[in-house]
Amino acid sequence: MTATQSKPRQPLLKTALPGPKSADIIARDKQHLSTSYMRPYPFVPDHGEGVWLTDADGNTMLDFFAGIAVTTAGHAHPHVVRAVQEEVTKFTHVCLTDYPQEITTSLAERLLAHVERPLPGGNAEKWRVFFGNSGAEAVEAAIKLARNHTGRTHIISTMGSFHGRTYGAITLTGSKTKYKRGFGPLLPAVSHVPYPNPFRPPLGSTPETCAQAVIDHIESLFVGILPADEVAAIIVEPMQGEGGYIVPPADFLPKLRQLCDQHGIMLIFDEVQAGMGRTGKMFSFQHFDVQPDMITLAKGIASGLPISALLAKESVMTWPVGSHGSTFGGNPVSAAAAHATLDLLEGKVKHPGCGESLMDNAREVGGFILSELRKMQADFPFLGDVRGEGLFIGLEFVGPDGAPDGKLRDRASMAMFEKGLLNLDCGEAVIRVSPPLILTREEAETGLAIMRETFTELSADQG
Ligand SMILES: Cc1ncc(COP(=O)(O)O)c(C=O)c1O
Repeated sequence: MTATQSKPRQPLLKTALPGPKSADIIARDKQHLSTSYMRPYPFVPDHGEGVWLTDADGNTMLDFFAGIAVTTAGHAHPHVVRAVQEEVTKFTHVCLTDYPQEITTSLAERLLAHVERPLPGGNAEKWRVFFGNSGAEAVEAAIKLARNHTGRTHIISTMGSFHGRTYGAITLTGSKTKYKRGFGPLLPAVSHVPYPNPFRPPLGSTPETCAQAVIDHIESLFVGILPADEVAAIIVEPMQGEGGYIVPPADFLPKLRQLCDQHGIMLIFDEVQAGMGRTGKMFSFQHFDVQPDMITLAKGIASGLPISALLAKESVMTWPVGSHGSTFGGNPVSAAAAHATLDLLEGKVKHPGCGESLMDNAREVGGFILSELRKMQADFPFLGDVRGEGLFIGLEFVGPDGAPDGKLRDRASMAMFEKGLLNLDCGEAVIRVSPPLILTREEAETGLAIMRETFTELSADQG
């Protein structure tokens, strides 16, 4: 919405969903595309603008999921579009594995500026970047580098995690068995430990003690089951995405860092979903006083163009020349989109109505949504937990006994969709709010009004 419009834009549903053109595409899609695609909602996007997506029949929806936390700058942002158009006229591919290019070198420099921090004595710690195409590829690169650098094999991951669908990445994933069923054998030498979810503390702990409980659990593995000196890495999402948009207690990551230091284990932060400004800081781990040895990035990095990155300390990125690469990784057109996205995230280029930067906007508008949803909890007891940072927000549905209520979540999600609010589930009973970071307060209010209306109807149904 522009500042001069008096009424905020609303979703516009011209047909029942799906309309006739969409229904035709859905039928053909079902006939010809992979049987593994999920298709939870009958929506066929045709084009987008900002936080709005219009389908093949002209129905316009408010986008509260951003293609799973990807379209940082929204759909077809003019600054991103311009950058892509300019780059695509130069060349579309050369192969970064063989030839250095200015656009990827300067992109690496810009990303690293957000992690290289001064050491005691004034020296900044040097890091390096490997570029890939997807989150899973960044995770695969992290697994390979951790093993190659340490000479150890074992990797520890967390329950509820999601790291991607390639073989290494699904092995590390701990969220749903459907990702693994029938695909084995997976990578050997991988263990999963609980994630410290303060709303559902594991291992008989409390919200206050769950971080220490997980650390104690890992230490107990080192005593009886798994030699610590065979563990190459611990990989963790600093804020867990697919598992339910969970923010761990403040002491968890620093304690994990200490544990890793004690045993010479690499600490990998998977920032694929929570990174790139979504939580109000460039990386979600920056909400905690801690630094990892490696960081994986993808999704929001280029507002939808495919590119991913593995960032690692220079002292860690020791794999030899030729040992790892990618034909497409670090594609120049995607790199141009990433530069444009960083311009907006850092505030070098301003987006109207979004304050100093998209990161500021995520903090501000996300804080507003969080506080409004928390107010709704008083009226709707099935909203068991509202959590998150910035525009990384999870809304957990519970039954009268406090147990996760996935069925109610599914009803809420579909009802919101039918009112024109695109959303997506995660975890056992959670709806994630992960819109583009250009969402204005007025657009947030529009989405919140749809949510309130939905919850009121669900409440009435429950009698
Ligand atoms: C934390 C995390 N890591 C890795 C991935 C895998 O990314 P991709 O689907 O791009 O391979 C995802 C995707 O949802 C993710 O959320």
